[in-house]
Amino acid sequence: MTGDGTRAVRAGLPDPQPYAPALPGPVFAAHYHLPGDPAGAPYHYGRDGNPTWTALEDALSELESPDAPAHSLTFASGMAAISAVLFTQLRPGDIAVLPSDGYQLLAGVRELLTGFDVEVRTAATGSRQQLEALDGARLLWIESPSNPGLEVCDIRALAEAAHARGATVAVDNTLATPLGQRPLDLGADFSVASGTKGLTGHGDVLLGYVTCRDPERADAVARWRKTVGGIPGPMEAWLAHRSLATLQLRADRQAAGALAVAEALRDRPEVTGLRHPGLPEDPAHLLATRQMRRFGCVVSFTLPGQEFAERFLSALTLVDEATSFGGVRSTAERRGRWGGDAVPDGFIRLSVGVEDPEDLVADLRRALDTAAW
Ligand SMILES: Cc1ncc(COP(=O)(O)O)c(C=O)c1O
Repeated sequence: MTGDGTRAVRAGLPDPQPYAPALPGPVFAAHYHLPGDPAGAPYHYGRDGNPTWTALEDALSELESPDAPAHSLTFASGMAAISAVLFTQLRPGDIAVLPSDGYQLLAGVRELLTGFDVEVRTAATGSRQQLEALDGARLLWIESPSNPGLEVCDIRALAEAAHARGATVAVDNTLATPLGQRPLDLGADFSVASGTKGLTGHGDVLLGYVTCRDPERADAVARWRKTVGGIPGPMEAWLAHRSLATLQLRADRQAAGALAVAEALRDRPEVTGLRHPGLPEDPAHLLATRQMRRFGCVVSFTLPGQEFAERFLSALTLVDEATSFGGVRSTAERRGRWGGDAVPDGFIRLSVGVEDPEDLVADLRRALDTAAW
């Protein structure tokens, strides 16, 4: 039994060997020496496997499922990982329940699924509809907390209800990271995430992964990856593994910063709809406390209209106007600019980095004052 920080710095590392590095460098190989019969060979061709992926995948399994054996597969992006689960678990004629308020590209996924004759029902995260939509469903897709609205749903209760109806459960764990929430321990069959965000945390890597405990499901996902080819580069996989060593430091620091920022914003008259699962008065806080171990780095809120929000964003000096979230440098954006989320024009998604919280709070207050002029 080790703590999160200890696990994070050691996860996936080989046993120490004299004169070898703690984390072996990236292996750049399109193919491997492969004499004779390839059956049982650990590596043969670069689309099937790579030792740098294997080390990262072992690390992810340790973090997502420290107390039970699990299998992880890394992908070129979060979307590649999401597609791998959906398209291996669903068949024409199946019914899938997707969040209506999840990551906006789920709308594109929905279109693709429908084209393959999968019926897609949507339900708002945390609403009763999630449960009501389950009858006859083959798969329930959960995103909790949801991006960008930060709604939370009861993963354990939904997984039990879905399993009772024979449905598979997958949870998008991007926002929480495995140090914030362990979907497999809460009863999900799959934990799926974009590693592009808080997992790697430096805004320099695109990556995705799938973790599950059932070896047959893992095999199906591995075959999908080999066939479709959405593989991560060795450099990205290595950078991701290196970043895991600081995951606990970053997750703790960013969650503390996000709470400080949310507390500072709650008294501002321009701010409405403030959400952060760590905020005691947040409607999702009680539930989040039951299933999350850290509350993430995202704070969302609404300012009075598009122009106000744009003035606010350009007045910030310590927060970059950029999409994505989870990085060490704070970022914010007006989500309405993409047109894909059902949010008000002045809706801001703020991702808190590792800057000193008091500096961030001062910057946000000053930018709000400037925007009000
Ligand atoms: C919750 C969530 N899931 C999945 C993705 C997709 O990840 P990627 O951009 O790595 O493909 C994102 C991207 O923003 C996301 O926010």
